[in-house]
Amino acid sequence: MATLERREQRRHSDRCRPTIGAITPRKYEPESNFTRLKNSDYAQPVSWDVIQMAAPVPTPTMTPTAFVPAGAAAKIDVRQMHFYYGPRRVLDNVTLQIRPHEVTALIGPSGCGKSTFLRSINRMNDIVPGARVEGSICIDGQDIYAPSVDPVDLRRRVGMVFQKSNPFPKSIFENVAYGLRINRLARSREELGGRVESSLKSAALWDEVKDRLHTSALALSGGQQQRLCIARALAVEPDILLMDEPASALDPIATQRIEELVYQLKARYTIVIVTHNMQQAARVSDVTAFFWLGKLIECDRTNKIFTAPSQKLTEDYVTGRFG
Ligand SMILES: Nc1ncnc2c1ncn2[C@@H]1O[C@H](COP(=O)(O)OP(=O)(O)O)[C@@H](O)[C@H]1O
Ligand SMILES: [Mg+2]
Repeated sequence: MATLERREQRRHSDRCRPTIGAITPRKYEPESNFTRLKNSDYAQPVSWDVIQMAAPVPTPTMTPTAFVPAGAAAKIDVRQMHFYYGPRRVLDNVTLQIRPHEVTALIGPSGCGKSTFLRSINRMNDIVPGARVEGSICIDGQDIYAPSVDPVDLRRRVGMVFQKSNPFPKSIFENVAYGLRINRLARSREELGGRVESSLKSAALWDEVKDRLHTSALALSGGQQQRLCIARALAVEPDILLMDEPASALDPIATQRIEELVYQLKARYTIVIVTHNMQQAARVSDVTAFFWLGKLIECDRTNKIFTAPSQKLTEDYVTGRFG
């Protein structure tokens, strides 16, 4: 509570600053000065100031940069994309570049097309009858909808974690080993064991499960199961990780662990995360894209989206006027 009170005092001292609607713009503060929310903060009504101050594990090496379109450096380059379920268009002319080694959050009201957009990046929508994509999505410069692209290979390179953890009814070890086996990524039993271990370590789960690797994955807690699913996705060495509301079914402590993990993983992966939780977007992401009724309304550095968005609609959404 003391932290919240200090923030509240700071908010009062900020009152002399000009306001944009309900938003009080802050002078830019290096992200290393941000403070993390404590678990106890999650239960409190979070003030706008807290949203802006909240960020994951601070690292002094983070250098804030102004948002520039990713251009040629884009890991994922989406151009003039339309998406249809049968005759119904649910994404309308979306152009978005996602840079490597950053976390990009997709926010927007329910039904605005966030999951559809995310699933288009690894062609998960291919299995939906009548689903159709127009425009282009390139990863590392290659059109992923080109006939030469094998969707199975694409999904190995672009891993996905869902809202509801979905471990196989097998042991912890076998859950992680599964993808390694079917993709023939381990040449020996030792290599398989080593890769399972390193994947579990990357997903911050190893210490909790190393003594019970051969017990059922279904006996793990919800948060552990979700980290197991992350380990399973990481085992096949993707370079992009898509996460669709990965913590929305978890308690605050498990959520915090997932958020810390996301923050650590971006050093090695490009991460795109859908979240309906704006505090979470503010904490974990570098860039935020706001969708509304199938359109990409605005995409910018997260700090800017939450303090001085360019579009009125974005401002209304992030300040909770609708949603
Ligand atoms: N498999 C599907 N078939 C038909 N319509 C779908 C399907 N999945 C989603 N939709 C529709 O597409 C729109 C966008 O959905 P979705 O991408 O799930 O939005 P969000 O993730 O932002 O809530 C919604 O109107 C939804 O009803
Ligand atoms: Mg969704």
